[in-house]
Amino acid sequence: MSDIMLGKKILLGVSGGIAAYKMPLLVRLFVKAGAEVQVIMTARTKQFVTPDTLAVLSKRPVLTDVFGAFAQPSHWAEHIRLGEWADMFLVAPATANTLAKLAHGFGDDMLSIVYLALRPNKPRLVFPAMDGEMFTAASVQRNIEQLVQDGCTVIPPEHGDLASGLVGVGRLPEPETIFAHAVKALAGSTDALDEDEQKYRGKHIVVTAGATREKIDPVRFISNYSSGKMGFALAEAAAQLGATVTLITGKTPLATPPTVARINIESAEEMLRAAESEFARADMFIAAAAVADYRPVEVQSEKLKKSDSEFSLRLIKNPDILAAFGAQKKPHQVAIGFALETHNGIENAKEKLLKKNLDMIVLNSANEAGAGFDVETNIITIITRDGFAEKFPLMHKRNAAKTILKKAAAFLSAIAS
Ligand code: C5P
Repeated sequence: MSDIMLGKKILLGVSGGIAAYKMPLLVRLFVKAGAEVQVIMTARTKQFVTPDTLAVLSKRPVLTDVFGAFAQPSHWAEHIRLGEWADMFLVAPATANTLAKLAHGFGDDMLSIVYLALRPNKPRLVFPAMDGEMFTAASVQRNIEQLVQDGCTVIPPEHGDLASGLVGVGRLPEPETIFAHAVKALAGSTDALDEDEQKYRGKHIVVTAGATREKIDPVRFISNYSSGKMGFALAEAAAQLGATVTLITGKTPLATPPTVARINIESAEEMLRAAESEFARADMFIAAAAVADYRPVEVQSEKLKKSDSEFSLRLIKNPDILAAFGAQKKPHQVAIGFALETHNGIENAKEKLLKKNLDMIVLNSANEAGAGFDVETNIITIITRDGFAEKFPLMHKRNAAKTILKKAAAFLSAIAS
């Protein structure tokens, strides 16, 4: 879990929709991560989740009623105090009614008043949740646009089963996803990050991940065991540091990390096309994909029949996506590759770094336990352009991703504007 949450003060506005039932779990995630949470709910919310549940989990009384809070002179400026106190304001679920209030400057309950009292530079995250038809209503969309213009980050609801029995857009994301968005928002606004990590804020990072599939006929393909885990961990870590991330990936069951734009591809040629359209705006290109070196010269339109005891397939070399980026990269762009070697690892990796015009290459050991394809952990050696190689101990791919980004930040800083 992220250290970013440690000691952070979060105002959680819960408005009256069925998805409010997910909020006790979100409060637990925040508290477990070391944050302080002040829950504010609207009057209707009590019908969906009890204030007592949220109070026990957040270890603070839940605020609902403006007059209740203002009943004692010591509480007269409670809304102003909370507005100053908060590091972040998060509304989940945001009903159509609450969206309208926030978009139009209403202040008729504690939630809307505190929103008005919030310090201007603090992140505001809004998670609308309602039935699909309501969400697409022109007035709701107008209010969302207004909130975005006012500086809120509005996270659209997800597609899935709705409480109405219908299936469509409108579901509140799961607490873990909301938590990840909160981490990202804080990462983009906080100075808790170290200098290296702050370099990622607002940068555009493109990551390739997973295995490509090279079609032989309608039912067969050439591929490899790459799971995509390393690339997905890199995309997630970059997004958490406030980067805008595009993840170009081969087929994998892995879930898209929050806020990451995912492009699904099958073959190396498709991956190249998707990557090329990102080349110009990429500040950093990280090639974690295991691209098939060759593809069949011809793709058969019908299933190949077995006949002779031997069969040979003519293959042709695939384009090298990372080398294509390296060949055209501008001075401000950073190129990072991976190398999986069975022998002469460092030497071969260095050669690839130079040949593909990279700034850094990450060598995965192929013959050590816990490293390489389709495992949760990795043993990496980071080699930079100056020839310096640093080997790290066995670690989870998530931590390997953070280590790689921390090292790579040096190249961003060297060219930072
Ligand atoms: O396959 P090779 O060892 O050359 O891979 C080194 C790096 O180049 C990896 O980062 C890989 O993602 C990238 N690569 C690529 N396109 C290819 C082959 C490799 O982007 N066709």
